[in-house]
Amino acid sequence: MKRLILQDIHSSYYTGSQVLPVLDGVSLQVGAGEFVSVLGPSGSGKSTILKLAAGLLKPDRGQVLIDGEEIGGHPQLVSFMPQQDLLFPWKTLQDNAALPLLAAGLSHRAARNRVKELLPVFGLEGFAGYYPHQLSGGMRQRAALLRTIMVESNLMLLDEPFAALDALTRESLQDWLLKIWSRYQRSVLLVTHSIDEAIYLADRIYVISERPGRIRLEQRIDLERPRRRSLVTTPEFSLYKKILIEALETERA
Ligand SMILES: Nc1ncnc2c1ncn2[C@@H]1O[C@H](COP(=O)(O)OP(=O)(O)O)[C@@H](O)[C@H]1O
Ligand SMILES: [Mg+2]
Repeated sequence: MKRLILQDIHSSYYTGSQVLPVLDGVSLQVGAGEFVSVLGPSGSGKSTILKLAAGLLKPDRGQVLIDGEEIGGHPQLVSFMPQQDLLFPWKTLQDNAALPLLAAGLSHRAARNRVKELLPVFGLEGFAGYYPHQLSGGMRQRAALLRTIMVESNLMLLDEPFAALDALTRESLQDWLLKIWSRYQRSVLLVTHSIDEAIYLADRIYVISERPGRIRLEQRIDLERPRRRSLVTTPEFSLYKKILIEALETERA
């Protein structure tokens, strides 16, 4: 069974008397345990897709199904990392990460212990008591991802989780995300505007057009797993890159 299905979604924003059509008949799917990326230009409606999948937005037309159930614009228990994922500056790393557990009804102590167990996995051991401003950009991103993982859900929605990072940090976090993904066997829908990132991470990529967004291309990525950095220099990787660049260029032309 497909974990997430968006079926012929039409979605607009209504501001005063203005209507902004954002998605125009978008259909996509994420299977159980699958890693899917959505690639597209800025303003094409990528974040809107994730908000719809999280039930934070109701489509004008079309259906969103999670594990076979139509969600009808009701907020879902999904691991959602919004584009601007801000940690609360007045809370320590461990208390930021523990928030979803507290919301799920765990005691403070149990929540903190659970977070502490996972800090080493996220390369954050020893930093439990640090405040966000005392952490590097990469550590803050990992902390935000840790908080996202803390939501006990099989579906992760990640909105450009590595966009603000330098190239090296970004690469190491991509590798780390793949490890987490295979360890927890979750379904992932990751939005990015980086072609390399999409190919490196995903089993399948949807290319979305300029607004109003339509699916331009669906591309399966048959590269071996676990993925290794050296993959990016292979002819297969380049071929995928060419296909995706062309799909995005056709769009701009
Ligand atoms: N809450 C909102 N109200 C009105 N317009 C919005 C809102 N959110 C996004 N938009 C507009 O919808 C379009 C798509 O936005 P978004 O889904 O964030 O695109 P992307 O994530 O691909 O950059 C943009 O033109 C943006 O300005
Ligand atoms: Mg966005």
